[in-house]
Amino acid sequence: MTKSPLEGRRAIVTGGAKSMGLHFARALANAGANVALGDVVEGDTVAADIHAETGRDCFYKHLDVSDEQSAEAFCAETAARFGGIDILVNNAAIFASARLGPFGDGTADEWNRMFAVNVTGSFLMAKYAVPIMSQGGFGRIINIGSGTAHKGMPNMVAYVSSKAALLGFTRSLARELGDKGITVNTLGLGLIESDSIRDDEVHMSFTDRVVASRSIHRSGQPDDPLGALLYLAGDASGFMTGQTLMVDGGSVNL
Ligand SMILES: NC(=O)c1ccc[n+]([C@@H]2O[C@H](COP(=O)([O-])OP(=O)(O)OC[C@H]3O[C@@H](n4cnc5c(N)ncnc54)[C@H](O)[C@@H]3O)[C@@H](O)[C@H]2O)c1
Repeated sequence: MTKSPLEGRRAIVTGGAKSMGLHFARALANAGANVALGDVVEGDTVAADIHAETGRDCFYKHLDVSDEQSAEAFCAETAARFGGIDILVNNAAIFASARLGPFGDGTADEWNRMFAVNVTGSFLMAKYAVPIMSQGGFGRIINIGSGTAHKGMPNMVAYVSSKAALLGFTRSLARELGDKGITVNTLGLGLIESDSIRDDEVHMSFTDRVVASRSIHRSGQPDDPLGALLYLAGDASGFMTGQTLMVDGGSVNL
């Protein structure tokens, strides 16, 4: 029998209880990984579904990535249940629920909350996952980025700025962790019709304009980034770090 590519790997997906995070979690489990789902929304049912579908160990625990104690407890529980951590997907973000509108209407509280979840949250998860990854001498940190960080986007300035900050985080952390067997990359997405976006008329109204900006003129589907995710999570990407892999139908050319 052929071995599944991520057989025996232990993964965390933040924001993993719904939408893209759930697609990422399911893909990792289907590839053989045990998966811990952390989210501010409930996820026991989807974790049980993933376990039933794939036979992999999958659990949900409440996680607020912006809360240091919550991030630390989540990493500790994952290590206790799985015996280690190999893969961290920093997917949690304020995205679909973000206010869209002129930057001058924003508040410092809104800006700070955006950075607390999207940037500080990724830092805190890495802070507590990396010492555990280091013990195993293998790690894959995958930060979920956005094409908007490269192109700019009106009416989303706090979100776009937070995703741009993640690029610096990716590059700097890659430099620190390269000799520990831990890679750090950004998986950059163009507009994808995730479950959250499909339910959102405003985001869906951007679709025609976004599709026209692409080399491949169709809308992005939740399955589209999964191959790139599995590549970044697996052994084959071991000599690639600090990079951004864009899955956006050929809109941003880095
Ligand atoms: N769908 C797209 O078009 C698109 C494009 C570019 C980038 N992205 C990125 O992909 C990721 C997933 O996006 P999505 O479309 O599923 O949208 P989404 O807004 O539904 O996903 C965010 C997830 O993070 C969780 N979350 C929010 N705050 C949290 C916190 N404090 N702690 C833990 N979890 C928290 C949410 O409950 C949700 O599961 C995000 O990082 C987003 O920025 C999405």
